[in-house]
Amino acid sequence: MIMKIPVITVDGPSGVGKGVLCRAIAKKLNWHILDSGAVYRALVLSAINHRISLKHEQKLAALAANFDIDFMINANKLNILIKGEKNKQDIRNEAIGELASDIAVLPKVREVLLYRQRSFKKLPGLIADGRDMGTVVFPNAIIKFFLDASFEERKKRRILQLQKMGFDVNLNKLITRIKKRDDRDCNRLISPLVPAVDALRIDSTNLSVYELTNRILTHIAQFL
Ligand code: DC
Repeated sequence: MIMKIPVITVDGPSGVGKGVLCRAIAKKLNWHILDSGAVYRALVLSAINHRISLKHEQKLAALAANFDIDFMINANKLNILIKGEKNKQDIRNEAIGELASDIAVLPKVREVLLYRQRSFKKLPGLIADGRDMGTVVFPNAIIKFFLDASFEERKKRRILQLQKMGFDVNLNKLITRIKKRDDRDCNRLISPLVPAVDALRIDSTNLSVYELTNRILTHIAQFL
């Protein structure tokens, strides 16, 4: 008998609280987790370490097929396991985020990563966090969420997040970068950031992490 592996997707722009929410769901259900943004970021890191130009689509696609990445939740932290790469601590900074958004428009890279991302689907289930999880990577997900929040709120959360991780934050530069990234992620030709038609849309602007997590877990409980 073939067991159907359930997937829950959480899509939305940066700073809406996807990461913390996905960790909470994965922990609660004891499911696997895929941080697809970290996959794009790790590919950038690997390309820089291997001195591969971020404009060389063919070489990036070949690297995308082979670089080693996995995720593990430890206490409330998501550990990104990238084998054999240096400067892993840089993966979350905004400059790498911007470069990840640059390479994310390359069709061959997306095609290879599509299959790699699908391979994270394992029993008992998967929580997938990203931009195109519910639309392209896991269109048959059993539950789909699309989170949004006001730009002001997302900016505030992102600053706090980066500061917590020990990065220096230049406010003006950060605002420009977030806007540029939003614009590119939403307007690219392949897999743009759009809500899946069957996604539950939630505005998290005025919700605490606790409120957001509770609302989402209550919704999930109706289906599982
Ligand atoms: O979620 P994040 O900030 O770590 O994502 C970094 C970039 O990676 C994002 O700006 C665009 C790209 N990305 C993507 O194109 N598709 C995804 N599913 C996830 C991220």
